[in-house]
Amino acid sequence: MITCQAFGVDFLPSFSNCIAMLQTKIAGIGKYVPSNVVTNNDLLKYMDTSDEWIQERTGIKERRYADRTGETTTTMAVEASKIAIDRAGITPQDIDFIIFATLSPDYYFPGCGVLLQRAMKMKEIGALDVRNQCSGFVYAMSIGDQFIKTGMYKNILVTGSEKHSFGLDFSTRGRNISVIFGDGAGAVVLQPADPSTSAGKTQGILSTHLHSDGESAEILAMFNPGTHANHWTAERVADFNAAEAGDMFMSHAMIEKAQNFPIMDGPAVFKKAVVKFPEVIIEALTANGLQPSDINMLIPHQANLRIAQFVQQKLGLSNDQVYNNIDKYGNTTAASIPIALCEAWEQGKIKEGDLVCLAAFGSGFTWGSVLLRW
Ligand code: ACO
Repeated sequence: MITCQAFGVDFLPSFSNCIAMLQTKIAGIGKYVPSNVVTNNDLLKYMDTSDEWIQERTGIKERRYADRTGETTTTMAVEASKIAIDRAGITPQDIDFIIFATLSPDYYFPGCGVLLQRAMKMKEIGALDVRNQCSGFVYAMSIGDQFIKTGMYKNILVTGSEKHSFGLDFSTRGRNISVIFGDGAGAVVLQPADPSTSAGKTQGILSTHLHSDGESAEILAMFNPGTHANHWTAERVADFNAAEAGDMFMSHAMIEKAQNFPIMDGPAVFKKAVVKFPEVIIEALTANGLQPSDINMLIPHQANLRIAQFVQQKLGLSNDQVYNNIDKYGNTTAASIPIALCEAWEQGKIKEGDLVCLAAFGSGFTWGSVLLRW
């Protein structure tokens, strides 16, 4: 008869019993934001906008921009990861898997995961990049949870990091997008909770819920560089050079026509987000027999303060049950949830035993939630 002895606890020989014993906890958390603060008024030198418009429509007062050449998506993740690893009481050499969520990677390929592995002098461990934009961190947490639950890994580093400031259209043409985004990084270390301690008995991720709907993939997207060859859109979104082979990835015409920037139909994104955010939070609560009133802290992806307020109202949550910091950092996409989670925890707003819900919605569309007991 096989006996599973995780953490010195004997229990029955069924594999599912072993899986049930392993609950994934956040053992350490860290964040990094660049020191360069860019206010709404600072953007006036590039485009026709106003502090009033940005604050009223998005709730953003300022955001951070990475040092133009001194910092990258990976270096910011390294800074956040150092803190998370330190707070977990381990070293970079103890990490046995990396999951890196970003839409603004240092290179088109290879991914940021391997750059982080190199920069932090980690062992020759697996490194996975997640390309799910604003939902990237939630997807990454869900992947990490599966590896911890099955006993595959014991110390997983999950990071979300973005350097948006490098790739936005800072002319008036791009103002509906460029005013929203900011740079920064957050990271967590995932470990199996220890059921031999009183906290460990209940602590950890209760469930994760992931969704996608590619029907509207083109309403929030960056088409180029890419291999699409205008296949998916009636409208021509890329002007390629005339060549028999190759030479199609990035052309002078694309740059001249500003086809190398992200595009967004803001109102359409807004309408879908205010439906899917509450839906996926309720899905998580229902799966665990819980109610919105049981949530101690909701960390919504910081897309737009108006979206977060709508979700709060719809779920009947008080101000103490929701944490927002978009006013200071803008939308940092895959980094926004770990930055906000870290900040809320540092401010003592999340305590042991609290029910915490992470929820995200973004380009794809993709959306998801993570429900956990801190
Ligand atoms: N400053 C001043 N005026 C502006 C700006 C700006 N920065 N941007 C747009 N405008 C103008 C528009 O040109 C338009 O002018 P017009 O009426 O003369 O044509 C007017 O403001 C209204 O534009 P809308 O796009 O309809 O404005 P809206 O109220 O919808 O706000 C916003 C735009 C803030 C983008 C909003 O739609 C939104 O937040 N949408 C959701 C965004 C989001 O959550 N994205 C997902 C996350 S990102 C990701 O997943 C990668």
